[in-house]
Amino acid sequence: MSQHHQHDVLVIGSGAAGLTLALTLPEHLRIAVLSKGNLANGSTYWAQGGVAAVLDDTDTIESHVEDTLNAGAGLCREEAVRFTVEHSREAIQWLIDQGVPFTRDDQTAREDGGFEFHLTREGGHSHRRIIHAADATGAAIFKTLLEQARLRANIEMLEQHVAVDLITERKLDLAGERCLGAYVLNRASGEVDTYGARFVILATGGAAKVYLYTSNPDGACGDGIAMAWRAGCRVGNLEFNQFHPTCLYHPQAKSFLVTEALRGEGALLKLPGGERFMQRFDARAELAPRDIVARAIDHEMKRLGVDCVYLDISHKPADFIKAHFPTVYERCLDFGIDITREPIPVVPAAHYTCGGVLVEQTGQTDVPGLYAIGETSFTGLHGANRMASNSLLECFVYARAAAADIVQQLDDVGMPTGLPCWDASQVTDSDEDVIIAHNWDELRRFMWDYVGIVRTNKRLQRAEHRVRLLLDEIDEFYSNYKVSRDLIELRNLAQVAELMIRSAMERKESRGLHYTLDYPQQLPEAKDTILQPPTYGD
Ligand code: FUM
Repeated sequence: MSQHHQHDVLVIGSGAAGLTLALTLPEHLRIAVLSKGNLANGSTYWAQGGVAAVLDDTDTIESHVEDTLNAGAGLCREEAVRFTVEHSREAIQWLIDQGVPFTRDDQTAREDGGFEFHLTREGGHSHRRIIHAADATGAAIFKTLLEQARLRANIEMLEQHVAVDLITERKLDLAGERCLGAYVLNRASGEVDTYGARFVILATGGAAKVYLYTSNPDGACGDGIAMAWRAGCRVGNLEFNQFHPTCLYHPQAKSFLVTEALRGEGALLKLPGGERFMQRFDARAELAPRDIVARAIDHEMKRLGVDCVYLDISHKPADFIKAHFPTVYERCLDFGIDITREPIPVVPAAHYTCGGVLVEQTGQTDVPGLYAIGETSFTGLHGANRMASNSLLECFVYARAAAADIVQQLDDVGMPTGLPCWDASQVTDSDEDVIIAHNWDELRRFMWDYVGIVRTNKRLQRAEHRVRLLLDEIDEFYSNYKVSRDLIELRNLAQVAELMIRSAMERKESRGLHYTLDYPQQLPEAKDTILQPPTYGD
């Protein structure tokens, strides 16, 4: 039987953003953190590179701001960039206080008690400013925060719980606009339960799974973006999908990421014949921002008709490589590639959703009581191209800002009551799950072919036509059959794909990650692409 639950704060998503928010809130609040699979299945766990922050005396806030604005191709909101960068040091200190084992730098150990950690470089950064835990930073952060959350009696971690949709006053035809909770599929019982909450947080990550080839884990389905859209929130800049330039090219590797920090430490990109090529595309060569590197690789692969290019760090001492990149070293060795002696075959793959749900500096969305943080949100930090390792930083800074905002409102917001149960009276068990599997494949294939690194009007029109057919089919399926995790994810992914295509069609220029052969020039004025749901502002 379906159940009712009540929490002060419902956090949908258990990655860096969701856990930081839960840990920052006061301990007298009852908090539920939902994970739709196992806790470690999110993107945070797989992040290799690190967290960008101004930590070194030779670095400055101005420099980090300027690099971010440059990478963002004129579309970053400067106040968001400044806000994030200015709070970077305290966010890192908070992580250190939680116990995150960042890699120390023996050579720069200081007696004054200041930062004494190794800082690496990545594309677009003019300084060493990436604090990291070898090449498994996400895993180190995730494990530490989870350990802390498990020590807190007020935080309930719920695995295998998939949010289906948000409950709002508007949807219930009540006076007001507030978010009141969410319907959640408990995969163990098979029931959709009702979660009432004073505050609801979307921290579900991005939507890179919309593409056939991605560095992201399976859950990156844009759930939060789709739910927020259906609840009446605006979304922004969804045409900017970042492709990571270097994912391992191997039939069994499932797009394993080869961290950009390798290039930061001197790895070179080469063609199959061993010739370097990045200097032909940008003076910063291998350390150009990601949009430039990914497009250059795509261009060379198409020009030469080759399946991949190569990333070579074998000129560095083997001990250095093994100490700094143990994850990449071991994983490549699993596939018979010894990176201390030979180059790594690499291709670009979908990696990060730069746009998302429009939020204020507090993470507050258009719907009162509903927050979006991390990759789900659109804060204005990333502009047309996210700079490497700014995303984890954004998770910590905005999660902490959202927690502070919630605390300020505690006296004014009561617990919602009388929420209706999920209505499953009109649906039956599905008899044709093949439709779900087929639509998943079709969606991800045409998004890769038509809405990828290089776009055209014709390709986008084809994608638009197909996504509309899929949305109709999925809607019909959703109305008639019981929900499952696959169906919920497909419904969300198709919705976000449609928003991405629509956003791409609205942009009549090439800028940052959005490159179209029909409008190859950048327009003089940089404008966000903001989409409003049909119910917005009624
Ligand atoms: O290359 C990387 O390690 C990825 C970093 C990032 O996406 O920020």
